[in-house]
Amino acid sequence: MCGITAFSGKEDALPFLLQGLSKLEYRGYDSAGVTLVDNNKLFTLKTKGRLQNLIDQLDHDAPTGLVGIGHTRWATHGIPSNLNSHPHTNNNNTISLVHNGIIENYRDLKEKLLAQGYTFKSETDSEVVVHLLDSYYHGNMLEALKKVISQIQGSYALCIVSTLEPDTVYVTKKDSPLVLGKSEHASFGASDIPALLDYTKDVYFIEDYEIARLCKDKITFYNIDGTEIYKEITHIPYDSEAAQKDGYDTFMLKEIHEQPHAISETLRGRIENKERIILPELDVIKSRFKTFNKAYFIACGTAYHACLSGANILERLTGIPTSTQAASEFRYGEPIIDEKTLCIFVSQSGETADTLAALRLAKAKKATVIAVANVLGSTISREATATIYTCAGPEIAVASTKAYTTQVIVLLLLAMYIAQTLGKKSEIYRDIIKDIILLPKQIKNILKDEKIFEKYANYLKKQHDAYYIGRNLDYASVLEGALKLKEVSYIHADAYIAGELKHGPIALIEKGSVVIAVATQPHIATKTISNIQETIARGAKVILFTLSNEEAGNVDEIYYMPNINPILQAILVAVPLQLIAYYAAKLKGCDVDKPRNLAKSVTVE
Ligand code: F6R
Repeated sequence: MCGITAFSGKEDALPFLLQGLSKLEYRGYDSAGVTLVDNNKLFTLKTKGRLQNLIDQLDHDAPTGLVGIGHTRWATHGIPSNLNSHPHTNNNNTISLVHNGIIENYRDLKEKLLAQGYTFKSETDSEVVVHLLDSYYHGNMLEALKKVISQIQGSYALCIVSTLEPDTVYVTKKDSPLVLGKSEHASFGASDIPALLDYTKDVYFIEDYEIARLCKDKITFYNIDGTEIYKEITHIPYDSEAAQKDGYDTFMLKEIHEQPHAISETLRGRIENKERIILPELDVIKSRFKTFNKAYFIACGTAYHACLSGANILERLTGIPTSTQAASEFRYGEPIIDEKTLCIFVSQSGETADTLAALRLAKAKKATVIAVANVLGSTISREATATIYTCAGPEIAVASTKAYTTQVIVLLLLAMYIAQTLGKKSEIYRDIIKDIILLPKQIKNILKDEKIFEKYANYLKKQHDAYYIGRNLDYASVLEGALKLKEVSYIHADAYIAGELKHGPIALIEKGSVVIAVATQPHIATKTISNIQETIARGAKVILFTLSNEEAGNVDEIYYMPNINPILQAILVAVPLQLIAYYAAKLKGCDVDKPRNLAKSVTVE
C-alpha cells in the first residue's frame, strides 16, 4: 500500500505534493520521492526512509516546476531502498511515474522489455510500466497509456509526467484508490481525499480503467477506448481529519470495514487456477519441508490467537505436530529445537520485542524460521529465513482487526502450501480454496448486519465481566473476541474451552451473566451448545454464533454463520466479535483507537 500525489497548476507543484504525501504517509513510510517537470527536464529525487528525509534533502536542493508527482512507499516487491523508491523513470529520462498497487504479470513483461534492450534500475514490479509506456509511445501519451492498460494485470493507480507533454499529468487506476481535485488554479491527484482538502474540496472520482489528463485549467476524462467522458464534481463537506477516517468515526471501525479488501490483497497472486497455492517467498526453504518433524507457532496477543488457528490447520493438513507458544514464554523456556524444527513467527508490526527475541533463539538453535508480518522491511521480517507478508495495509487503531484476519489467511495459505509440496491429497485443500475465494464477499455480507452486532453490544454495557466459550478452532476465535472486548471497552472478559466450564469457571455464572458462544465447527457444535444450556440453567444470557442446522435451544440471541468450510470460520466470526467489542466500547465512551495503557508496537519487554 502506497500513497501518491499529482499536480498540474499555475503555481509550484512541490508544496502540494509534499503536504499530500504527509497526509498519506500512514499508507506507507519506507521511502518517498517526487518528480517535477522543470524547464522541459525531469527532476527526480527519491530516498529510503520517512518523508522527512526527502523534505530535508529537498531543502538543500529545492527544485521548481508547475507539474509533478509524488509517492510514499509501502514496499511490496523489492526491499525499501533508494533505487526501489518511486518515481521510476524511463531510460532516457523523459517519462516518470508513481504507482500504487501490484503488477502481477511484471515478470513476463520485464523479460520482454529486457529482450527489447530496456535496462532496469530497481527490483520493483512498477518499473515495468514506465518502460512499457516508453515502448508504446509514438507521439501520443493517451494512446500509449491505453496500450499499457491492455497489457498489465493486477492493481494500480498510476500518475505519469513527461517532457513529451510537459504541462500534463496522466492518471489511471484499477482496484487501487485515486481521487482527483480541481481548484481555480490547479488540478490535483491523490490516493485519498484528505490529501486534497487543504487545496480543494471539489473532487472527481475516477473509475477503474478510466484515464484522466490533468492540466492547470481543466481535467479531461477518457474511457478505455479513448473516448472523452463527462464527470460531475462532488463537493466534500468535511475537513481533512474526518476525511482520513473515510467518513468512519474511528480508525478501528474503518479497519474492520477494510477487511474484505485486506483479504483480497493478501490472497492476490497467491492462488493459481483455483487449485494451487503460490508462495515464491518460500522457495529458499521448500526443500526442507520433508525434514520437519515439529512446528512451533510463536507470537504475542492477537497474533498469538492467529497462531492457535494456524497451528490447528497445519497439523490437520500436513500431519506435522505443532505447538503454539506466547513469545514471552518461549524465549525463556527451553524449547526442544533443532534443524528439523519449523518455527513460525507472526507479528503485525514485525518489531515486537518478545517475538524478535524468540525468533533469535530459534535461529540460534538452527530451526527454519518463517515470519508472517505486515510491515515491510521490519526487523522480524528481515531476520527470518523467509517472510510472507499479510497485505492488510497500515493498521492505525491499536486494537488489531484486519491484521488478525489476514494473519489467519496467510497461515492457512502456508499450511496448504506445505501440504501441497509434501504431496498431500489435493482434494482437501482444493475444497478450502473454493471457499477462500468467497471470503471477501462473505465478510461484506456480515458487515451489512452491523446493526445486529451493535444491538448485541448492549448486553455488555453494564457488565463487569463477559464469558466467551468455544471448542477447537472456535476456542481461538473466542480468545480473540475476549481480548478485543477487554482492550477497547475495559470490560473484563475471559475465554474458556466450552468443555472446561464444568471444571471450574461455571462457578462464576449467575443470573444476568453474559456468555458469548461460538459453535461453528460441525463435528463439535452440539457439544458447545450443551455447555451453553448449562450456563442458561444458571441464569446466563447467551449470544450464540453457530450454523443454521444446529438446534440451539433457548438462547437470547442467535446469529447464523454462512455455510463455509469450517476451517475458514475463524476468519468470518472474527468480524462480529470485533464489532461487539467496538460498540461496547463506544457505549461506554472509551477512546476506541487509543485504549489506555496500550501501544501499537511493543518494542520493550
Ligand atoms: C491486540 C493487539 C496486540 C498485538 C500484539 C502483538 O489487539 O494488537 O495484542 O497483537 O502486541 O503485536 P505484533 O503483531 O505487532 O507483534
